[in-house]
Amino acid sequence: MRKSAVVIGSLNHDYILEIPRFCEVGETLTASGLTLSPGGKGANQAVQMAKLGLPTAMVGCVGEDADGDVLMASLEGYGVDVAHVRRTGEPTGMAAIEVIPDGRVTCVIVKGANYAVSVGDVRAAEPLLAEAAWLVLQMEIPQEVNRFAIERARALGCKVLLNAAPAAPMEEGVLRQVDLLVLNEIEAAFYLGHDAGEPDSALAGAAELHARYGADCVVTIGALGSAFRGEGGEGFVAAEAVAAVESTGAGDSYVGALAKALVDGATLEGACRFATRCAAVTVGRPGAQPSMPTLADIRP
Ligand code: RIB
Repeated sequence: MRKSAVVIGSLNHDYILEIPRFCEVGETLTASGLTLSPGGKGANQAVQMAKLGLPTAMVGCVGEDADGDVLMASLEGYGVDVAHVRRTGEPTGMAAIEVIPDGRVTCVIVKGANYAVSVGDVRAAEPLLAEAAWLVLQMEIPQEVNRFAIERARALGCKVLLNAAPAAPMEEGVLRQVDLLVLNEIEAAFYLGHDAGEPDSALAGAAELHARYGADCVVTIGALGSAFRGEGGEGFVAAEAVAAVESTGAGDSYVGALAKALVDGATLEGACRFATRCAAVTVGRPGAQPSMPTLADIRP
């Protein structure tokens, strides 16, 4: 039985600004605080998986700069295998994140070295894919790399979880090769062409995407919970009521925890329940990677 996972994706240095409210167009606001934290959807998901005890390898690129050093050190510190994270001449990716007092955030990314990730990096990682249970992908690296990675993972017997974030047009044929599609309400609305932000519409949206692409599908709707639809059934898992501190990385915590549970043999519903628990811990603490739980943090 395969017991490991591979993430091919982004690494960013996050600049998290604490502001009283989101800016109006043309307005200048003063932040009350600035925190620098390792991030990037790919790296965050890899960290969550490793923190939960899942042997996880990261494939990606950072620059030959101080930010790259910070991101590498963070991944290594959490036990992620970084042998396939390549240093390039491009600057390390970064994200400008604004957080308001209720914990909600906006995020703007700068691609940087993440767009140096290549088909060659996927080829180099094939021995890992040949042993891994799941490949986990997001949409912060070039699309052609994701396409190639999906193809190779399938050929090598590795299942594919695509967290289509941020949402971007993608060929139906590619989405049809994915085993599990995970979207938040904004991404789901992008692919569906209609709203999926309430429990009923998220459930209907997950069913529609499942029918369209054949993949199991999860639609997360933040503080409300997540809807799932797969071969094994459908349902809605309510989010836990928590005092949100800062929600950066909550979605990544959810995706990483889903992957961990699925590698361990959970049903889709069981995996959603476990992921919901993990994401609740993550939103209650600041930063993306530092806030994610270990197994000890979520044991009752
Ligand atoms: O999902 C949160 C992440 O999105 C941040 O860490 C940021 O780097 C962006 O990739």
